[in-house]
Amino acid sequence: MADEVLGGGLANLGQVVRRGDVVERPAPPHAAALHAYLRALRDAGFDGVPEPKGLRGGRETLSFVEGDVAVPPYPEWPRADESIASVGRLLRRMHDVAAGVPIPDARWPTEFADPGADGDVVLCHNDVCLENVVFRDGEAVALIDFDFAAPGRPLWDLAFSAWYWVPMVPGEIRRVEGLDGLDVGRRLRLMVDAYGLDDAGRGAFLDLFPEVTETCRRFIAKRVAAGDPVFTEIDAQRDPQRWEKIHAWLAEHRGEFLAALGV
Ligand SMILES: Nc1ncnc2c1ncn2[C@@H]1O[C@H](COP(=O)(O)OP(=O)(O)O)[C@@H](O)[C@H]1O
Ligand SMILES: [Mg+2]
Repeated sequence: MADEVLGGGLANLGQVVRRGDVVERPAPPHAAALHAYLRALRDAGFDGVPEPKGLRGGRETLSFVEGDVAVPPYPEWPRADESIASVGRLLRRMHDVAAGVPIPDARWPTEFADPGADGDVVLCHNDVCLENVVFRDGEAVALIDFDFAAPGRPLWDLAFSAWYWVPMVPGEIRRVEGLDGLDVGRRLRLMVDAYGLDDAGRGAFLDLFPEVTETCRRFIAKRVAAGDPVFTEIDAQRDPQRWEKIHAWLAEHRGEFLAALGV
């Protein structure tokens, strides 16, 4: 079967190919540990991750997960209540199983890692953007692209996922990115309820967004400084005040979001 280049991602743009029932992509430096971890997660009962199949010559192969992935220009269905709720449920199922799976020693990536990680950590995905979730019949069934996975608090992973899926940015930025007109409070609530976050965690969850915003800003700044053409182009097209606007919006609407979460 001919190779099919898979679109959607930015970090490995043009380098992810499907060949029959496997995907071949550039392997992150810590791929051996990551593969061992993903196998252990599957063995422990979470099948919502691709199965690692091989690792050689700086490339990795993983099982292709059949289904639908939302890639730009985004279709309508990621806006559905059931889509975001099912992402919350899937993440919770992964975290619950992950809590019992030891994290192998490795140089886990630091880019999106939880800055407040303490003793009680799981391997967080850290990049649950629209392009990294596979759906079947409207239900999120698998997370793909664990390149940025690293030890952290489950709450950090939930906040990072909500940042993308709600999304937790002001309306004018959502407009530019094609996810406008959504009710932020309602979507926050849907995701957090589906995840089953307890009342005590809800305030702490909301408090994580400024740090998530900073983490994304630093990541892009670093890629731009390194001369990465993809991220340089994205950055050039964005509002130069983007990050300040997000911070101001988060602060301004904090009370509203807390109320939406029932805090
Ligand atoms: N194992 C997989 N199963 C199904 N689709 C996949 C799989 N791996 C990648 N894809 C598709 O290819 C796209 C790009 O792959 P990804 O590994 O996320 O690249 P990047 O690191 O550039 O984000 C994804 O958004 C998804 O649509
Ligand atoms: Mg990706």
